[in-house]
Amino acid sequence: MKKIEDVQSDTPSETSSKTASNITKPETSGKITKKKKKNRNQKKRQLRKLKKQLIENHNIDSSGDEYYSTHEWFEEEKALYNEGYDDGYQAGLDAGLYERRDIVYYNDELLTHDYDSLPSNVKKFWSRRYDLFSRFDDGICLNEVLWYSVTPEVTAENIADYLYKLNPDAKNILDLCCGGGGNTIQFALKFENVMAIDINSTHLHCTRHNCEVYEVGDKLLTLQGDWNQLAKNFKWVPFEYETKPFDFIFCSPPWGGTDYDRSSFDVYDMEPFSLPDLLHQCYKFSNNIALYLPKSSNIGQLNSASEEVFGDADTYRIENIYDKTGKRILAIMVVWANLV
Ligand SMILES: C[S@@+](CC[C@H](N)C(=O)[O-])C[C@H]1O[C@@H](n2cnc3c(N)ncnc32)[C@H](O)[C@@H]1O
Repeated sequence: MKKIEDVQSDTPSETSSKTASNITKPETSGKITKKKKKNRNQKKRQLRKLKKQLIENHNIDSSGDEYYSTHEWFEEEKALYNEGYDDGYQAGLDAGLYERRDIVYYNDELLTHDYDSLPSNVKKFWSRRYDLFSRFDDGICLNEVLWYSVTPEVTAENIADYLYKLNPDAKNILDLCCGGGGNTIQFALKFENVMAIDINSTHLHCTRHNCEVYEVGDKLLTLQGDWNQLAKNFKWVPFEYETKPFDFIFCSPPWGGTDYDRSSFDVYDMEPFSLPDLLHQCYKFSNNIALYLPKSSNIGQLNSASEEVFGDADTYRIENIYDKTGKRILAIMVVWANLV
């Protein structure tokens, strides 16, 4: 395997430079002086006026019979946010601007939410819904766990771009642990065939459904199963191949919920796959592996796992994965590839 570059610096890379929008939160901190109070009241008056205008301009009647199209709705929300509302959605709700969506249940779980139907522990993620999926209003399905595990759209797009640049001729991609399809969709938008595997049938249902929303369902093959079992043989691989069936494998494994160790993440102790096991398993199926891991991942362990599996501690590259502003590191992507 070709030796590849060391850990990158904190400077946003090309991979991370794209932004979904330039929404910036208004300043709220600081002592409230008379002048500030006056400004705030003025702002509130402006907002009330803006809300009134929204209702008038779009013929919203009190029964809410007339609805925005998804795009208009999103633009208005963004405008309200920029005008000073903490949450454009709340402002939209106040103005009676609802988007009707079909309701989907699977395994007795509601998968299409509005703010009220969201489980309380994930309500805080509601304001991020268009970051997760810009087409959220077209019927995106997520269960409670997926609300905090899905890879946000711009991040997933950057990851797909990065892997595309490594090998534009790649055809067969495996998205292992596909969750709600955040990454799967972006791979399917770029590559010919994407196979998505998850142990959880509800998650897999969301992936299928969400790929349909993004009109890439025809690129997708899904398989429900436990990777620790599947990796034991090649029987499940659905197409002809000579050596390694997949051009690359991407995996965003579970980190152990929202309270994973943010100071030093033990990649040997990951459940249900420890890093060396996961690498051994993936290497059977592809020469190119990309793992989405916490930024606190223990680098010493990355080195020793690399050495254990590939015989060289230096065979990987770490890409910082930034949020949509390109400033905050969300996670790292560790890439073992004979192409870089
Ligand atoms: C962090 S989420 C992946 C999120 C995904 N990248 C997305 O954008 O939606 C991890 C996923 O791993 C799946 N998973 C956990 N254990 C698994 C196993 N043994 N085999 C296959 N999938 C597994 C979980 O069901 C979960 O959907």
